[in-house]
Order: sequence, then structure tokens, then C-alpha cells
Amino acid sequence: MKCQILLIVAFLVISSRGTSQNLLLELKEDIIDEIHRLFKTYILGDYFYGEQTVEDVITENGTTYDFIVIGSGPSGSVMANRLSEIPEWKILLIEAGEDPSLITDVPVLSCGTLLWTGYNWGYRAEKQDGFCRGCPGQTMNWPHGKVLGGTTIINYMLFTRGNHLDYDKWADMGNPGWSYKEVLPYFLKFEDAHLEKIDRGYHRKGGYLSVSDVPIRSKAIDVYIDAAQEAGHPYVDYNGKNQMGVSYVQTALRKGRRHSADKAFLRPVRHRGNLVITTKSTAVEILIHPDTKEAYGVKYVKNYVEYTAVAKKEVILSAGSLNSPQVLMLSGIGPKEHLKELGIPVKRDLPVGQKMYDHVTFPGVIYVVNETITYSLEEIILNLHKYIYEYLFYGKGVLTTAGFVEGFTYIKTNASQDPNPNYPDMELIFAGATFSTIRGLLYRDFFNIPKYVYDVMWKPLEHKNAYQVTVSIVEKKMEKMFEKKNNCDKFMFSDYTYADPENHDIKTVIAAIREIQRINSQPSLRKYGATIVTTKIPGCEEYTFDTDEYWECGIRTLTATLVHQVATCKMGPHNDKEAVVDAKLRVHGIKNLRVVDTSVIPMPITAHLMAPGYMIGEKGADIVKERWLSNH
Ligand SMILES: Cc1cc2nc3c(=O)[nH]c(=O)nc-3n(C[C@H](O)[C@H](O)[C@H](O)COP(=O)(O)OP(=O)(O)OC[C@H]3O[C@@H](n4cnc5c(N)ncnc54)[C@H](O)[C@@H]3O)c2cc1C
Ligand SMILES: *[C@@H]1O[C@H](CO)[C@@H](O)[C@H](O)[C@H]1NC(C)=O
Ligand SMILES: *[C@@H]1O[C@H](CO)[C@@H](O)[C@H](O)[C@H]1NC(C)=O
Ligand SMILES: *[C@@H]1O[C@H](CO)[C@@H](O)[C@H](O)[C@H]1NC(C)=O
Repeated sequence: MKCQILLIVAFLVISSRGTSQNLLLELKEDIIDEIHRLFKTYILGDYFYGEQTVEDVITENGTTYDFIVIGSGPSGSVMANRLSEIPEWKILLIEAGEDPSLITDVPVLSCGTLLWTGYNWGYRAEKQDGFCRGCPGQTMNWPHGKVLGGTTIINYMLFTRGNHLDYDKWADMGNPGWSYKEVLPYFLKFEDAHLEKIDRGYHRKGGYLSVSDVPIRSKAIDVYIDAAQEAGHPYVDYNGKNQMGVSYVQTALRKGRRHSADKAFLRPVRHRGNLVITTKSTAVEILIHPDTKEAYGVKYVKNYVEYTAVAKKEVILSAGSLNSPQVLMLSGIGPKEHLKELGIPVKRDLPVGQKMYDHVTFPGVIYVVNETITYSLEEIILNLHKYIYEYLFYGKGVLTTAGFVEGFTYIKTNASQDPNPNYPDMELIFAGATFSTIRGLLYRDFFNIPKYVYDVMWKPLEHKNAYQVTVSIVEKKMEKMFEKKNNCDKFMFSDYTYADPENHDIKTVIAAIREIQRINSQPSLRKYGATIVTTKIPGCEEYTFDTDEYWECGIRTLTATLVHQVATCKMGPHNDKEAVVDAKLRVHGIKNLRVVDTSVIPMPITAHLMAPGYMIGEKGADIVKERWLSNH
């Protein structure tokens, strides 16, 4: 509670005093910088740590469990929940992070803003050659959650399942059981839908995870949705029958508060005596008999002390798409040569961490309008007391926005190489605000936008009505974007290069920008004088604004990722040279060990990964139950 109270007091002080209101709006540059720093250090940082609500257990060294689950993200939390439904089974859940502070409940403060806290493992990509030219270190952030609930604590909560064809393709790649028809029941199993626009048969109420509309919407998103329809994009439930079209975002929110994996799946079953959760505990090795190749336990470190836990039945690795491959390698499962280099005895030679796909994004398409239909800092500050009240008592108001992200449009550009008209190659992400709306305080770090770029591009918009449409590549051809040069070392996972030799991805992004422009020129948005911001991105001054060359330069300068890394423990049959696990998520050649998380996704999909992560957890749990319940 402490932090919630402090937060409220701080806001009340700001919002109740006219002088401070004006102050905040007219703050000098250096003071804004100072607030930025203080916010990072104190509001989101260490200051709020240490509020444990899940009991911080110390398990006795050498205790035996039936199952040990490593990691409490969407997949691991579902696993721990579903396995502990069987009262005779004893489950240990090992999580490296701690219990999240209450500030993570507040969507507007916690969407993509917790990068600089201990809730993030803090990975970064290597220095890039042709991309990220304008980002500090010429690289991009790869945040991954290190906290009970995993990345669902620090993400944007956007709930997307992906296209039906994504899953049909998994099945076609030699993974029986993973077609859309077969995974839909698992998406439904965990869902508790509170949505206005739904296709019948594609949603349900009563599951553990609340999926809801965002309680507040800007006028701008309503207008944008009209404009997109005028441009020919149907209004759809993108998690329903047909993904192609425009829609408001569906989010993992419950009554206006973040509904994370721990809140949805762990807290409700904390009373189960057969589920033991140990936080601040980092798994450092999965124990495997060198002869029988059977996994039989986990070595983990808590408070600098090493413990061993024994698993009678299985070890389930759900540490996420960067840490799962790392833990496998530390346990002797990985590329032989690389393990030898590191001095790790090889238990099984497998292409762990050799493949990776991601979704790249470009935040440089900004529009201004001539009326206050977007979010405005002035308005928010003037009404802050009202918004705090609405948030606390009704779970409504501006504090509930998913970082101002409000709408998706799934489109197929004319650069697409996939013939199927129902499979998108681009996702357009509409935000009813820009980084400038809150004076660069909250969101620009996620995109690794340096201050000098902010000052040129966004600062002049600080008191204007502006919104932003961000593109994200979803088509499979972007495979080329990532070629692994090297491998992970003992503690870091890096050395990926973003390369695009045929320039397909650049062409697709440019085609998507053209579509954004077409949508923005429709009557509904013209009414508000929607105009693209023509300020040139620093580094691209030599190009004429709005030419393809200009946009290519822009994309290569401000490159970011939505952190949708997949395929690092790729699922595939024995004869797939890239595969690490089979369709039952068993690590090839090792007994009693599965990887159950987003790292098994075999190809880039047309979705953000949280919903697929929950689905994989549900299906994985059923696979495990099938094995052990039918034997007894
Ligand atoms: C800033 C950001 C915004 C995002 N926004 C969205 C969004 O809006 N919508 C969406 O769908 N997706 C979003 N994503 C992606 C999505 O949240 C993740 O892809 C998803 O949570 C992955 O689930 P997972 O179970 O595979 O792994 P994770 O959620 O990463 O969970 C893995 C867990 O394992 C723990 N762990 C790792 N190693 C060890 C170890 N050795 N010992 C013990 N525990 C360990 C970690 O601490 C973590 O808790 C976002 C990601 C980021 C970073
Ligand atoms: C737990 O047991 C292992 C050996 O099985 C030992 O190496 C380790 O130090 C023990 N840890 C504690 C906290 O006793
Ligand atoms: C795609 O459409 C844009 C304009 O809408 C056009 O400039 C471009 O040439 C088209 N590209 C292809 C490959 O047809
Ligand atoms: C906004 O621009 C549109 C189109 O140019 C115009 O019709 C409208 O009157 C303008 N509104 C205001 C408030 O200036």
C-alpha cells in the first residue's frame, strides 16, 4: 500500500494547486530532465521495492517435488496453476524476480516504463550496422520481465492472438495439435471477456484472465476508426473470425488495473498447499543424468546461496525467449562447439538460441489535428484529481490507458509476398498521443530515442494535438531481418544482427506508411485538419520529406523492437535441424524436460506474444497431465 499512497499524495499535491499546475506545464528544460531522472530512480526504481505479498519462502535444501516450473511469465504461471489443480502433485515455481510493487497496477505508469528498474533483465541487442543509426549505442532495448508475473508486469497489456493461419502454419511445419482449430479451445479456456465488439464463438467469460476494452478512449481513436473504414478497412474483432481490419485494442485489464500473470493465475491459488513459490530465486542449472539423459532437478540461487530441488516427474522451463535458451545452455544443452568454448560439459547438442525472429517497429509517423481530440497534458493535469478519483474508485479514466495505445489496423500492403488476402503483413498501431504528450517523460526510453532526436522531432509538438501511428512488421519474410552471428555467453544473450539484405522489410514499412497516409486523408480525419508532421528525423535532413528514400533513412535511424522474440527454442520434428523441442514441447533427446513458453514459437506470428504465451501454458499443462494422469 505504501507506494500507492505516496503516488496518490504526489498527484494530489500537483493537481490541487493551481500554481503547481502551471508550473508543470511551463517547466524549464533542465527541470523536466530532473523529473525524468527522479521518476526513473525513485518512483519506478528501488524506492518501491520490498513490498512482498507472496510469502518469500525458503525451501529446504534438497526437497523433492513432482514438478519444478522455472519462470512465472504467462506460460509458467498457467503451468503452476493448472498442475497444482491435482492435489497429489507437489509443485515448485522458481522465479528470479520478486513480488511486483503496486505501481505496476496502474496502466499509464507501467506500460513500457519499467525498463530501468530491477523488473527488467536489461538485455540489449548488439550494435547494429544498417539500423538504429540514431539510437544511443546504435542498438535497441530488449526488455524482459524479471518479476513475479514475468513480462506481463512491464508490457503494454495488448491482447492479440494472431491470425488463424499462424497456427495452421505451425501444424504444417510438423507440429501436430497446434492448428488454430486445436489451439482455440485453449485461448478460450483462460479468457474472461469484457468486450464490446466480439464475434460469437471466439470469446468466453469465466476464465482466469480478464480481457477487456480500455475504459477510456480519446475522440481521436473513434475518428481514426471511422477514417480507416472509409479507407476500406472493416471494423472487426481482430481476435475473432477475421483479423484483417481496424479495431480498438483488447487488453489484459481487470476493472482498469493491469491483470498480470501473477494476478490472474498465481494469487487466486496461493492457498493451495501443494504449490510452493520461491521468488528472487534464479535457476542456474537443470540437473540431468549424463547417462540416462533424464532431468531430475534444478539448482537455483537465492540470496547468494545455492539450493537444489529434486523433480520426481518433470522440469518445465518457462523462463522466456532469452532466458530459456540460456538456462538450457548452462545445463549442457546447446550447440556443441559453443558449450565447449564455455567449458560446459555437453549433455545434448541442439541448436538452442540459433534462430530468432522479432517484430521491428518505427515510431516516426506523427500527425497533428486542429482540435483537442487527442490526449493533452494540459487537460490531464487540470483534471488529475478527477482521474485519480475515477481510477481508485471505479477503475476508469486516463490512468487506465495502455500507454495511450488505442487501436490496431491489420493490413496487407502491396509489398506483401504472401498470396493469402486474409494474412496481414503489417500491423498499424494507433496511439492517441505522442511522446510529446507527456513531455517525453514516460515512453521514449522504450524506443531508445535519444534526447537530441526528441528535441527536434517531438518537443515542438508538446502543446499541440498530436497522435502517432506506429508500424510493426508481421509478415514471415522478415526472417531475413535476424541472422544469428554468434551465441550467448554465460550470462548475456546477445550478438544478434538485424539485417535485411533484400530490403523487403523496408519496402513493407514504406508501403504501410503510404497506407497510413491514405487512412489519414479520409473525410473523418480531414474534418480535423489531420496533417503529417514534416519535421525531418535528425540524420535524414539530406532527403526530401516523404520520398521513399526519406522514409528508408528514417526507418534505419529510429529502429526499435516490440520485443516479440521467438524461436530461440524452436518447436519442430526430429528432422527439423533448427528444432529444440517437439510438438509435445519435450526437449529433443532429454527425458522429463519441456520448454513451455514463447521461445518455442517456430516462426514470426501476426501477434504480440502475451496471449500466445498463455495459450502455450494451457496447452502445455494439458499435455503434461495427459502423460501423468493416464499412467496412474
Ligand atoms: C516493454 C514490453 C512491452 C510488451 N507489450 C506487449 C503487449 O502489449 N502485448 C503482448 O502481447 N506482448 C507484449 N510484450 C511481450 C510479452 O509480454 C512477452 O512476449 C511474454 O510475456 C512472454 O512470455 P513468456 O512466458 O515466454 O516469458 P516472460 O513473460 O518473459 O516470463 C519469463 C519469466 O521467467 C523468469 N526467469 C527467467 N530466467 C529465470 C531463471 N534462470 N530462474 C528463474 N526465473 C527465471 C523471468 O524473471 C520471468 O518472470 C511486451 C514486451 C515488452 C518487453
Ligand atoms: C544444498 O545442497 C547442495 C548439495 O546437494 C550444496 O552444494 C549446497 O551448498 C546446499 N545448500 C545449502 C543452502 O545448504
Ligand atoms: C504500392 O503502392 C504505392 C502507392 O500506393 C506505389 O507507389 C508503389 O509503387 C506500389 N508498389 C508496388 C510493388 O506495387
Ligand atoms: C480544422 O480543419 C478543417 C479542415 O481544414 C476545417 O474545416 C475546420 O474548420 C478546422 N477546425 C478548426 C477548429 O480550426
